[in-house]
Amino acid sequence: MDSVDATSMRDALVASVTDEWIGRRLSVCGWVARRREHGEHLAFLDIRDRSGVLQCVVEGSLDVRPEYVVRVTGTVSQRPEGTVNERLATGSVELTECVVEILSSAEPVPFPLDGRTDVDESTRLRYRFLDLRRESLQRALRLRARVTMALRAAMSEQSFVEVETPLLWAPTPEGAREFVVPSRLHAGEFYVLPQSPQIAKQLLMVGGFDRYFQVARCLRDEDLRADRQFEFTQLDLEASFVTQEDVMGFVSHAVAEAARVATGEDPGEFATMTWAEALDRYGTDKPDLRFAMELVNLTDAFAETSVKAFQAPCVKAMRVPGGAHFSRTRLDALTDQARQLGAKGLAWFRVTAEGLDSPLARFVSEAEASVLGAVDGAEVGDLVLVVADEYALASRVLGALRVAIGAPPVSEGPYRYVWVTEFPMFEGVDDDGHLVAAHHPFTMPHPEDLDLIETDPMRVRSAAYDLVLNGWELGSGSVRIHRSDIQSRIFSALGISTEEAESRFGFLLGAFRYGAPPHAGFAFGIDRLVAIFAGVDNIREVIAFPKTQSGADLMTGAPKSITERQMRELRLRPSVKG
Ligand code: AMO
Repeated sequence: MDSVDATSMRDALVASVTDEWIGRRLSVCGWVARRREHGEHLAFLDIRDRSGVLQCVVEGSLDVRPEYVVRVTGTVSQRPEGTVNERLATGSVELTECVVEILSSAEPVPFPLDGRTDVDESTRLRYRFLDLRRESLQRALRLRARVTMALRAAMSEQSFVEVETPLLWAPTPEGAREFVVPSRLHAGEFYVLPQSPQIAKQLLMVGGFDRYFQVARCLRDEDLRADRQFEFTQLDLEASFVTQEDVMGFVSHAVAEAARVATGEDPGEFATMTWAEALDRYGTDKPDLRFAMELVNLTDAFAETSVKAFQAPCVKAMRVPGGAHFSRTRLDALTDQARQLGAKGLAWFRVTAEGLDSPLARFVSEAEASVLGAVDGAEVGDLVLVVADEYALASRVLGALRVAIGAPPVSEGPYRYVWVTEFPMFEGVDDDGHLVAAHHPFTMPHPEDLDLIETDPMRVRSAAYDLVLNGWELGSGSVRIHRSDIQSRIFSALGISTEEAESRFGFLLGAFRYGAPPHAGFAFGIDRLVAIFAGVDNIREVIAFPKTQSGADLMTGAPKSITERQMRELRLRPSVKG
């Protein structure tokens, strides 16, 4: 009966009590999940521990209620014919002749823990310690632990070494708002919680750790969404004397190992496409490859159009298979969505046996109509959507509609991984007219585009790459700049003066003067990966104690005020709430 789960108090977990043990007397510990009376002196207790539920037959009177913590010692017996429960792993056995010890009593719980009842999320978060007893969270957090173990093993196998980096730190360059921690000993000064170990890991490269990784907690004060929390966990890595392809290889191997452990399937080789191709075909840098509906460029076919709405630098279209039955209300909603995303409008054409059905049908020429009716192999019963605008905008709007119309929930298989490479170096200009780095300021420009930094910066590609899974960005990384001449040119393009660079990142730049190896790295969100594997669409479901959308911890009440004494010690002045 030896089991790793045996302790001085119990012999086994309830789920391991099976037919093989019939006749043995043993003890289990757990919570009372359910109690059913059978006459006055016979009760059935379902005892739950982390492995499942086991029925125990108790004779005599006994004061136990749901969620009491008990130790039950009984004899493993075959259930009488007709009472076998097929839905339970332990459904053919029960413990009889039970002795029940109450280890702890429990008040009535605020919501059922059976997993069958839908419970309002704020109640679940307020009583997270109870929510955690439910099977879904038990399963998700155990899956998370297995994924993390697989990742650690895969990194270690590839000769990476785990190094912990500080949480009390200085500003990091990820670009989100930072959480700051006032210092008591240095009044008026602050630590900054790291948005990622970015700078620390680059310093480790200078320090000669040529393959570093870390299961790293990161903190960012940004708006929370289904795939974002203030605190999250990255599998962070960095390596020296490597190329982008090497890093993509390390990451692909680690993610594939995690996938095998979590899903039992080998994900095969990951797809790769450039950022430009992703934008062109899918209208996004996070292409969801689980479904087709690729964008088609019709600019040439509409070069001479007399339709005003299509007189634009770019005309792009997308076929929606079977979309001809979309109601006017749905088409109007899609048009509104397109407008909200910045398009002037959205044109739609139903492909019918009689030709195109659309408010614009009578304005398009015959040649244009035949192009529209054949977009992406369109057939009768399909819908064709068209956006005419600047290239990037038309692509992005159709890309968003593509996801809104066609994308299954993120966690629904199959799992389609794709590497997106050659991101642009800059993504527009800030309010002061300075370029904004698309990744972070230490990203190496594409070697072929170095000459364009000063002359045509928006065309500069970078050696940055993302890994995307089912339309979610899993992670990103880049080859870093290890040469100070290139770094100075990038800082100056970003409007970061030498003084500012010194004051923000001086310790890194200084370190680089003492022999910086060429290096590159990557980080991906473990929360996101596990959520997808766990079949949930919100990372809160794979985090033990997450925050709400508004950043509150409903269980502890954080954030909350601190004592006046603490305020004084930290030289903080109370401000009016609001
Ligand atoms: P980046 O900022 O792209 O890159 O972050 C990498 C990955 O971390 C996850 N992530 C988050 N997950 C949950 N909640 C959040 N608020 C959140 N923010 C980010 C995502 C994301 O893809 N230092 C660089 C990596 C590098 O260049 O090596 C970095 O942090 O999955």
